[in-house]
This record gives sequence, structure tokens and C-alpha cells, in this order.
Amino acid sequence: NRKTMILGIETSCDETAAAVVENGTKILANAVASQIDIHRRFGGVVPEVASRHHVDQITIVCEEAMRESGISWGDLDAIAVTQGPGLIGALLVGVNAAKALAFAHGIPLVPVHHITGHIYANRFVHELQFPLIALVVSGGHTELVFMKAHGSYQVIGTTRDDAAGEAFDKVARTLGLPYPGGPEIDRLAKQGKASIDFPRAWLEEGSLDFSFSGLKSAVINYIHNERQRGREISKADVAASFQVSVAEVLVKKTMLAAGRYDIRQLLVAGGVSANSRVRKEMTAAAETRGIPLVIPPLRLCTDNAAMIAASGTIGFLKGMRADLALNGSPNLAI
Ligand code: KG4
Ligand code: ZN
Repeated sequence: NRKTMILGIETSCDETAAAVVENGTKILANAVASQIDIHRRFGGVVPEVASRHHVDQITIVCEEAMRESGISWGDLDAIAVTQGPGLIGALLVGVNAAKALAFAHGIPLVPVHHITGHIYANRFVHELQFPLIALVVSGGHTELVFMKAHGSYQVIGTTRDDAAGEAFDKVARTLGLPYPGGPEIDRLAKQGKASIDFPRAWLEEGSLDFSFSGLKSAVINYIHNERQRGREISKADVAASFQVSVAEVLVKKTMLAAGRYDIRQLLVAGGVSANSRVRKEMTAAAETRGIPLVIPPLRLCTDNAAMIAASGTIGFLKGMRADLALNGSPNLAI
């Protein structure tokens, strides 16, 4: 029963990250170089700029994680890297770094799906209890995933258009708030009232799918209409009303799923799970139904490499391996 030591590497979007994790549960090092300040100038992530900064940072971040962990390259069992989904140029930087390090040190390479990483961020808080349902809500994804065992994923609901985080970012942008918009809306909403009646997209009766583009357009139209009529809008009220609408849909659909499957645990992960309203409503709903709920701490909700190492640990133990032909895969399916 020797320990499994994994170096995780994540570069799918705008964080260059490397982490060392022991047994999929203990973080020995977790280095993240965020590009948020760089992309803020452009109001969103610029793919070419992201790739360039990943190239600048990847070696530094990997070395930092190894140094901080106190272990040496020879102690590693594998290198786990995000294969996709994500921005192709960004993914390639992490994949190529992982391939080079795996080759140079003679260590196996394990490919990881980014969403499974978000799910496994929860394992640093609580051991996973199967069967479970995970809601992954981020800038790029809104997925309900059913898991009956480690490494087994069944997508039971997904967004038909925008991801929840994308809606947060676009509404924030229309309100003149900086990127990323989620945390800004969250903060502003605390000072406002949810007094504006924005739509909730339930889709067909019983559907576990999501849609946020209608809500996003409704909010943007509201802002433009009010301004056109020369009326002062309350940004805080818009933020609060929009956030309540997103949270209500996320919570109700998740509870609908939880009622349909016999589960022992509910997980929430991804950048939008940092949202205070989502956390509060989900906690209350899970408590009412007596379902044990796990949500990672804020720094593990957004992109990081510890979660990639944690999911990679399961992949490694199941014998998943990639060779040096591994390529980034922007639309990778779970
Ligand atoms: O998981 P993540 O770091 O990257 C992706 O995999 O996409 O998620 C980033 C997203 C952004 O859209 C950001 O606005 C959103 O998560 N986000 C939030 C909050 N913190 C981050 N959305 C709502 N409320 C928050 N507090
Ligand atoms: Zn993510």
C-alpha cells in the first residue's frame, strides 16, 4: 500500500496550474498562475494571449509545484494533464509540457477530462460516496453527471446553449463590470433586491437540460431598454435578480435529478459553485431532502491542477495511459 503521487497540469483556459497530490486526496502543492489581470483589459479571455502566457508560465509553475511538494521527480507515479475540453492553443501548452516531463523522467502520462477534474475537487473535502450526482457549473460548462463508481461518468443533463458562467460574464460586461463577471455580480447582488422578474428556462417537463441564453438576452435587453428610455437602472437589483434566476434553475434541476436517481451524495463544482446564492440555496435544498452535499472551498472551485491530479489518480489506478502522440482535444467528451 504505497502512496500514489501524481503531478497534475492544467492549462485549458486562463490559469496555468500545476499541483502534486498524494493518493488523490492530499494536496502537497498547488501552484496557479492566473491570467485574469491580463485578460481583464480585453473584457474576456483572448485565446492567443492565453496560449502565449501559458508558454511563459508553464515551466515556472511546474517547478514551483515540485519544489513546494518536497518530493522529487523519481517519487512521482504519473503526470496527469488536462486533455480537454478547452481552448486548443492553451491545452497544447499543458499537454506538450506533460509529454516532455513524462518522457524526460520516464514517468507514465495520464489524460484527464477537465470536467472530471472539477468533480474530483470535492474529494479534497470529503470522500466520494456512490452513487452520486455532480453539478459542474463553470465558464465553459453546465453539466449534471451521474457517477456509480470512481471514474464512471454519465452526463444526465447539459446546457443547450450558454454555460452558466458565460451568462454571468456577459451580463456583467453589459453592466460595465470587469472580467470575470461572476464574482462581481455576486458582490453587487448583496446590495440589491431581486425585484426584476427575469425568465427561468425549465425546457420540457422533467428535462434535466439547461438553457441560459434566453435569460442572458432578457437581462441585456432590460438594461438597453431602460437606458434608451433614459431611466437609471439599479445595477445591484439587476445583478440580484439575474443571480436569483440562475440559482433557482440550477438548484431545482439538480434536485429533480437527485429525486430521479437513488444517490448517497450530491457534489457541486466549477467556478460558478463559488457563487454565494447558489451555495446557500443548494445547501438549503439538500438539507430539506436529507442529501449529503459537498461543495469545494472557493480556491478549488475555479480552475486548478490539484483537481486534475485527483481525477488523474483514479485514471492512473484504472490503468489509463497516454503516449507521446497525446493531443489537446477542444471538444473532448467525458
Ligand atoms: O471553473 P472556472 O474557473 O473555469 C472554467 O472551467 O470555465 O469557472 C470560471 C467561471 C467564470 O465564468 C466566472 O465568472 C465564474 O466561474 N465565477 C462565478 C463566481 N466566481 C467565479 N460565477 C458566479 N459567482 C461567483 N462567485
Ligand atoms: Zn474549469
